[in-house]
Amino acid sequence: MKKRIQIFDTTLRDGEQAPGFSMNLQEKVRLARQLELLGVDVIEAGFPISSEGDFQAVRAIAKQTKNATVAGLSRAKKGDIDRAWEALQHARHPRLHTFIATSDIHMEHKLKKTRREVLADTRMAVEYARSLCPEVEFSAEDATRSDVAFLCQVVETAIDAGATIINIPDTVGYSMPWEFGELIRTIRERVPNMHKAILSVHCHNDLGVGTANSLMAIRNGAQQIECTMNGIGERAGNAALEEVIMALQTRGPEFDVETAIDTTQIYPTSRMLTEITSMQVQVNKAIVGQNAFSHEAGIHQDGVLKNPQTYEIMTPASVGLASNNIVLGKHSGRRALGARLQRLGYELSKEEMNEAYEAFIIIADRKKVVDDEDLVVIAAAGYRKNGQSKSAEHTSNGVSQINSSFTQDSLYEYFNRP
Ligand code: KIV
Ligand code: ZN
Repeated sequence: MKKRIQIFDTTLRDGEQAPGFSMNLQEKVRLARQLELLGVDVIEAGFPISSEGDFQAVRAIAKQTKNATVAGLSRAKKGDIDRAWEALQHARHPRLHTFIATSDIHMEHKLKKTRREVLADTRMAVEYARSLCPEVEFSAEDATRSDVAFLCQVVETAIDAGATIINIPDTVGYSMPWEFGELIRTIRERVPNMHKAILSVHCHNDLGVGTANSLMAIRNGAQQIECTMNGIGERAGNAALEEVIMALQTRGPEFDVETAIDTTQIYPTSRMLTEITSMQVQVNKAIVGQNAFSHEAGIHQDGVLKNPQTYEIMTPASVGLASNNIVLGKHSGRRALGARLQRLGYELSKEEMNEAYEAFIIIADRKKVVDDEDLVVIAAAGYRKNGQSKSAEHTSNGVSQINSSFTQDSLYEYFNRP
């Protein structure tokens, strides 16, 4: 049987913390509903002590969420934990998430605490959180830059104090995939009570390997992945949910695991997030970028039109996109042009097609993308030159502006018009 991986979404907490991604209460509540539809197991809704807005959002999401667990973050301090619990207590499935840093650099310079004090705070925070909530997640902040023996001691203490989930964050995105996989394996092997808790990872993307680290963690026994939609999050962001999920789906046998994610909700969720935050994803972003299922090069277009699997390792439909996108530009070939003209209602002879292609390349050299409106002009011009009447039914307003005889100059003139 396949091992079940829990998906912990922190778009509304770590993601929302990033500059430019703040959301108001209604927006968070709306996105949380969509995350449930997407099928995430846990929605980390915010950091209640950090602001009144975060507190209210966690409370509203806790009340409305039906199936997913709702988590609220707190430092390893009673006041934080109380506030988080106040926000979470009405959730059907609440989870208190408490954290403390375990690396020497964080303990010495930020916390100004000794290892012994951090161990004591870990026990206190987890025991206190467990006295309020049956599900407690403990995170060892900056775990990947921590002394491994000390990290294992902290993890053992947290489980002994009642933690039901142990999270290992690569807080500053420092780890390499092979190191991170090794760390997860070491924790599983060395912490004697590890089997009593779920092992989770939380990878940042500062070196661009957040997703790779999460996947290596799965191969080494991690049972929960923390991630965000579109990979948003502090600095360079977190492991992107859509990348982790589609890697697990597309390369299934490499992992032999399953999740509860409905992949067809990936694109709608991504779009909702960009719409709410007005922050677009980069065009070449894996899975959800505008170019992720677009093809412009002629050879690729020819292949995709013959069989999409030639250049697509997953279908657009599997992530909730209606279709792929054949972009007509200067790298495109006759086959893609012909297919698009046919869709627009033009059946061109070989000779007409040659002329249309010649015209198309002229336009494509000037414009980055040739759109349907341009194609109508090209096709209509070709028909006029060849003295056919078919063009009438396809004539757009622009056609009357070009010479009835199709020349390169007239097309230049037409497409250079202000
Ligand atoms: O990156 C990090 O260490 C975190 C923890 C609070 C889980 O976001
Ligand atoms: Zn983080």
